[in-house]
Amino acid sequence: MELEKDQLDVQLGTETNTKNIYIEVTADGPYLLHGQTRMVQQFILANPNGISIAYKDGATFKAENETYLCRCGLSKNKPYCDNSHLKAKQNGVDLTETATFNPEFATAEIIEGPVVSLSDDEKLCAYARFCDNGRRIWNEVQESDQESVELSVGMAHHCPSGRLIVWDGGTPIEDKDIEPTIGLIEDMPNNCSGPIALWGGIPVKSSNGKYYEVRNRQTLCRCGQSTNKPFCDGTHASMKFQDGLDKAPDQNGKTF
Ligand code: FES
Repeated sequence: MELEKDQLDVQLGTETNTKNIYIEVTADGPYLLHGQTRMVQQFILANPNGISIAYKDGATFKAENETYLCRCGLSKNKPYCDNSHLKAKQNGVDLTETATFNPEFATAEIIEGPVVSLSDDEKLCAYARFCDNGRRIWNEVQESDQESVELSVGMAHHCPSGRLIVWDGGTPIEDKDIEPTIGLIEDMPNNCSGPIALWGGIPVKSSNGKYYEVRNRQTLCRCGQSTNKPFCDGTHASMKFQDGLDKAPDQNGKTF
């Protein structure tokens, strides 16, 4: 089915991808990818103090039109669906969508600074930890020097869930040059696998036919245990979700 652009609510600062790529959440089933895009493992790398500093690409996976992606965490063929969701309930996985359709900025907390400000929607947190590298983004946005401003923007741009957005006046400072990408997050410092990251304005359609707000950065649960489905709420970190894929980042891969 074609992307129904007239039904999209697009967040300020986001541009919907131009390739008609979108994800459909199926009822009690997998994610269905529409359109063709790049799907790649994205390893969170840390410095010696365990602080998240960069992403590095790993293996790439085929992501063509009508590709079914596991969202129950049970598939033996991740990132793809192998119909294990048919036994999700008996394995303690409830795939019911619980997220709100409200725009993020309706409820996000705002932290004002002298040069930039920050919006923070904590319920979207995917626990990637780029926001606290020893200099916390909530403090940095309250400084006026250029270094703090650039650090704040960089931290927000690495936040895969879009929980954190830095603003210049009434305009979100978003990276508009992101190629639409499906990232399979691998959290190396925390020794677990993470969510599916959607970079670059990829719409998500609920199983009830309604679209969630289109955002530049979003994370979809793939462990099956989020309480804010289809979005990740960081639970994968406490349950040490493992996707079973090779955990070797491509040494020739570029830092994201
Ligand atoms: S992948 Fe993050 S809560 Fe499921």
